[in-house]
Amino acid sequence: MYDPGMYDPTPGPPPGCPAHGMGPGGLRRLYGPEAEDLGALYEKLRAEHGNVAPALLHNDVPIWVVLGHTENLHMVRTPSQYTRDSRIWNPLRDGTAGPDHPLMPLFAWQPICAMAEGDEHLRLRGAVMGAMSTIDHRGIRRSINRSTQLLVNRFCEDGSADLVSQFAEHLPMAVLCEILGMPEEYNDRMVHSARDMIKGTETAIASNEYVMGALNRLTLRRRAQPQDDFTSHLIRHPAALTDDEVAQHLRLVLIAAYEATTNLIANVLRMVLTDPRFRAQLNGGQMTVPEAVEQSLWDEPPFSAVLGYFAKQETELGGQRIRKGDGLLLGIAPGNVDPRVRPDLTANMQGNRSHLAFSGGPHECPGQDIGRAIADVGVDALLMRLPDVRLACEEHELRWTTSISSRHMVELPVTFMAKPPQDDTQQPGAHPAGRRPRADWQVTTPAPAPEPAPAPQPATPQPESETVAPAAEPERRLGAWQRFVRWWRGY
Ligand code: HEM
Repeated sequence: MYDPGMYDPTPGPPPGCPAHGMGPGGLRRLYGPEAEDLGALYEKLRAEHGNVAPALLHNDVPIWVVLGHTENLHMVRTPSQYTRDSRIWNPLRDGTAGPDHPLMPLFAWQPICAMAEGDEHLRLRGAVMGAMSTIDHRGIRRSINRSTQLLVNRFCEDGSADLVSQFAEHLPMAVLCEILGMPEEYNDRMVHSARDMIKGTETAIASNEYVMGALNRLTLRRRAQPQDDFTSHLIRHPAALTDDEVAQHLRLVLIAAYEATTNLIANVLRMVLTDPRFRAQLNGGQMTVPEAVEQSLWDEPPFSAVLGYFAKQETELGGQRIRKGDGLLLGIAPGNVDPRVRPDLTANMQGNRSHLAFSGGPHECPGQDIGRAIADVGVDALLMRLPDVRLACEEHELRWTTSISSRHMVELPVTFMAKPPQDDTQQPGAHPAGRRPRADWQVTTPAPAPEPAPAPQPATPQPESETVAPAAEPERRLGAWQRFVRWWRGY
């Protein structure tokens, strides 16, 4: 059992020593040269320490890395022992993690539901959930489809595109601006500002002001004159959020959801373009886009880790003694490849949704069906428009920027046969027979849509189970590519 609070603070080994790169106490660092491949680093930690490992954040601040699937689930589902409220974290209290700490934006406490607990969490999350429950799911599907058409129109005559900067980084912003009630604010500057804030460049403060300016104006407009959108419902919820609380939660939804959904779309597109499992099964008419989305949520979760959870009392996790006030990293990516639940990483996980991509417990992502729908409908509609799309580089040439919380693809260059823009007023129902997109938006329960389209279903996030026994195999629907292949072959 290792106690990270008790490490020996003597300097690390001299350069040239095999242990070089280790920090005080011989602990591995989650930053610097060794952390360039975080996946490999997590596996070393698992081999050395088991399912919960001591490590060091920037400035050699101690942290427990939770690597086991079961241990991660136990942590997020036990609010009596672990909280998201960082104000009890020892390094914050004793100043070891000071205001200049590079990861401060990730753990600095804010009065938002993501960091609240108990009654306050119920109040804030209740308002977010209440506003989400009013979203018209069929309307969102139409909006995703329409935004995809408009984005593809921008580059379809070129015969080539970068699907990260021209598609994946735009689609979620367009859809989220519409959900919040500010479709007119979606533009290149909003996308740039959001990316800037996430990257934390020198202009991040100005970008944050630009985004907050738009969200504050929206809050004031809707407070004065409510409409039927997410923001108005958030304001009118009985939880009685202040204007500041409303704007901060709009920011949470816009920025966190944006980054995660962007990563998901880019990862699914890469899988569709390169993964032999997808290609092979596609030829056999097997794998659908929603299944590729789910496989990607296992293999490349959009948030690879969440910093963090904090121990409210002395406890034990994965055989380690956790002290009151210790910090723990929710290890989504390492938990998803825990050999106890995935002894064979190449085995496909179809029908099994017990990955950690959306976390679990009281803070489990409330927007998961929206995130899934944006990726599902967006990728499907893009493949429909560009059925001959191909990767324009070798797969090994693809690059990612990696941070402790996510991996973001830098570029996904593709080629395809140039074609004219499509009338963006065309509605999904106007597609020729056999190429009609699905009419049900909810990707968690993929029931085939009878004609005419059924009434919208409420989103019902599927509860995660402690075990990873495969869920019932979802009824299969045809992906865009398969529909195209069928249409092409004339059946
Ligand atoms: C693929 C896309 C998405 C992924 C992978 C994702 C993942 C996550 C994760 C890992 C958390 C942290 C849970 C924890 O603290 O234990 C979270 C929280 C949250 N997400 Fe998502 N998310 C996605 C999309 C969205 C969308 C589209 C929305 C809103 C429209 C959303 C709204 C939120 C909110 C409000 C929270 C805080 C919940 C709370 O603390 O009670 N997310 N998400």
